[in-house]
Amino acid sequence: MTLIRNLFFLLTAVTIFLPGCEALKTSQPIVPIKEYEKMIVGRLDAEYIGTQNCLSACHYHDTIRRSLDASTMGVQLSRKSGLPIVNCESCHGPGSLAIEGITPEKVEMDAKEGRQTACNYKTFIDIKNIPAQAQSLICLKCHTANATFNLHNWNAGVHAMSDVSCMDCHSICSTFKTGSPDLKVKPRDTAEMCYKCHQEIKAEFSLPSHHPVPEKRVFCIDCHDPHGTTNDKSLRKATVKETCTQCHAEKEGPFVFEHAENTEDCRTCHNHHGSVNNNLLTLREPFLCLQCHSGHVASRNLPKEFKGAFFTRCTGCHSQIHGTDLPSPSGKGRFIQ
Ligand code: HEC
Ligand code: HEC
Ligand code: HEC
Ligand code: HEC
Ligand code: HEC
Ligand code: HEC
Ligand code: HEC
Ligand code: HEC
Ligand code: HEC
Repeated sequence: MTLIRNLFFLLTAVTIFLPGCEALKTSQPIVPIKEYEKMIVGRLDAEYIGTQNCLSACHYHDTIRRSLDASTMGVQLSRKSGLPIVNCESCHGPGSLAIEGITPEKVEMDAKEGRQTACNYKTFIDIKNIPAQAQSLICLKCHTANATFNLHNWNAGVHAMSDVSCMDCHSICSTFKTGSPDLKVKPRDTAEMCYKCHQEIKAEFSLPSHHPVPEKRVFCIDCHDPHGTTNDKSLRKATVKETCTQCHAEKEGPFVFEHAENTEDCRTCHNHHGSVNNNLLTLREPFLCLQCHSGHVASRNLPKEFKGAFFTRCTGCHSQIHGTDLPSPSGKGRFIQ
């Protein structure tokens, strides 16, 4: 009986959690780091042959090479040897097996017959299909946290932990193939980069009131560090308020008259990305204010024509809703001026 009951609970639990599993579907089991390290060594029976040997046999990849040479990676030379620090084999693994049997004569023959000589690229590291952790390790060989400052929190970040790899955001050779040596991410390109996976955020930025991210005046990376931070939601700043006041400094305070502790988290009243209401408000006025206050008819200190009226736009009078140093007519802090 207990067995059946347990089975029932198990089944219920499975059914309840099943929809939540969607996002985890493609997750790989976590294996010890040395297993990932093995995946990025490449074929042990292959030798490193150097970019020149690689490419002299095969001109197909010339655009990629020219781009690499012109990129920040390519121009880094080891002072002593004059050899590049980064070459094709740094990422793709040793190449001797790939060019075995490829001679200048063969390339010429192939060309005569209108064929391109392909190397045996299956002997390289299967760079596109190894697990995300291994992909990132290829980059981290050189871009350790020390060498690249913004990677300090990479391993603890939500992206690393969710099987997102460097290559999901930084395309290397597909960029090189277009003839561009530019590895630098331009802020204006980041939103599209992020929307590849964060479609729901794109919807938020299409709402009538939104931070001008689509207009390319504010960028995802102003608020978030895609390489991870120790803060919630990979925010660059420790709190939401600090995140907001880096640009809206006038709302920071402290004020003589604070609006209680409301402004400690701007999201008491505002959405961060977008909203259907003006000014990114979570609710329209007066409903926003009526969540916490009862409204009042305007009677005190007002010209006669206003007496007895109930106004819907509370901030028409309480214009300094974020806090003020000036008292209201009764000497209290009511955010009138
Ligand atoms: C910094 C690491 C790195 C270096 C250096 C590098 N590659 Fe790549 N390469 C990658 C990654 C990552 C991919 C897969 C993703 C992509 O296409 O950007 C790739 C993909 C490729 C592809 C397949 C492209 C496609 O469209 O399927 C070719 C061909 C290639 N690389 C050749 C080269 C050659 C030739 C060199 C040297 C001139 C080189 N790579 C140097 C990382 C690198
Ligand atoms: C063999 C060492 C090595 C490997 C492997 C490597 N890089 Fe680099 N990378 C460098 C060097 C050196 C530079 C130029 C100096 C710098 O900016 O740090 C560089 C520059 C870059 C830049 C541009 C930085 C700038 O300011 O212009 C990006 C982006 C980058 N690498 C990403 C990657 C990614 C993604 C991978 C993995 C697919 C990778 N790197 C693998 C050594 C490497
Ligand atoms: C979710 C997307 C994303 C992932 C994953 C990611 N990056 Fe970046 N990376 C960016 C963006 C956006 C920038 C530019 C803004 C910045 O510096 O934060 C950047 C900047 C960089 C730079 C500085 C050069 C530049 O373009 O300003 C380097 C180097 C770099 N990343 C390497 C890496 C490495 C190595 C990994 C994996 C360990 C990685 N990144 C993972 C999005 C990403
Ligand atoms: C390859 C897919 C991919 C790309 C590209 C990507 N992300 Fe993510 N991101 C994820 C996954 C997977 C998670 C984990 C949790 C989830 O489902 O939101 C995540 C989580 C996050 C979180 C934390 C969400 C939370 O609830 O804790 C933030 C913030 C974030 N990403 C920002 C960005 C930004 C900014 C960019 C662009 C620079 C970006 N992401 C690009 C896949 C991606
Ligand atoms: C003006 C600052 C700002 C900008 C710009 C911004 N975000 Fe956010 N984002 C936030 C804040 C604040 C949170 C919520 C933090 C919390 O809940 O603690 C957040 C949360 C998130 C989350 C977690 C899910 C959620 O909605 O709570 C993701 C994913 C995310 N942002 C992605 C993005 C992407 C992608 C972009 C660019 C297209 C972007 N953000 C631009 C401030 C910003
Ligand atoms: C990187 C700078 C930056 C950060 C960080 C930032 N904002 Fe903004 N914010 C802007 C800009 C730019 C505008 C548009 C102003 C304009 O159009 O004149 C804006 C507009 C607004 C508006 C008015 C929207 C409208 O519809 O007119 C509100 C409310 C707002 N931000 C609240 C916040 C909150 C809350 C946060 C923190 C989650 C925040 N901001 C973080 C730059 C920023
Ligand atoms: C108690 C609710 C409330 C809180 C909390 C709040 N706001 Fe507002 N905020 C409003 C209202 C209401 C408006 C619209 C004002 C109007 O219509 O004149 C507004 C407007 C804004 C605007 C656009 C107009 C302007 O005055 O520049 C910005 C920017 C803004 N708030 C930033 C912030 C920031 C940053 C925080 C957190 C430090 C914050 N708000 C906290 C209610 C609030
Ligand atoms: C999340 C709840 C909350 C929201 C939303 C809110 N307030 Fe407040 N408000 C408070 C609290 C708490 C106080 C402090 C009350 C006290 O000290 O007696 C306060 C104080 C005030 C005061 C001063 C009252 C007094 O007795 O001195 C005014 C005026 C005021 N709010 C107006 C507004 C307006 C207008 C809005 C909408 C734009 C608004 N509030 C939204 C919670 C809220
Ligand atoms: C026509 C101007 C006006 C409008 C609109 C207005 N108020 Fe007031 N409110 C005042 C004045 C004036 C005071 C008294 C200031 C004083 O005592 O110094 C006041 C006082 C308050 C107080 C303090 C407690 C009290 O009742 O004395 C609260 C809370 C308040 N208003 C909330 C609201 C809310 C919520 C709205 C929107 C539904 C609103 N107000 C709309 C002018 C206005």
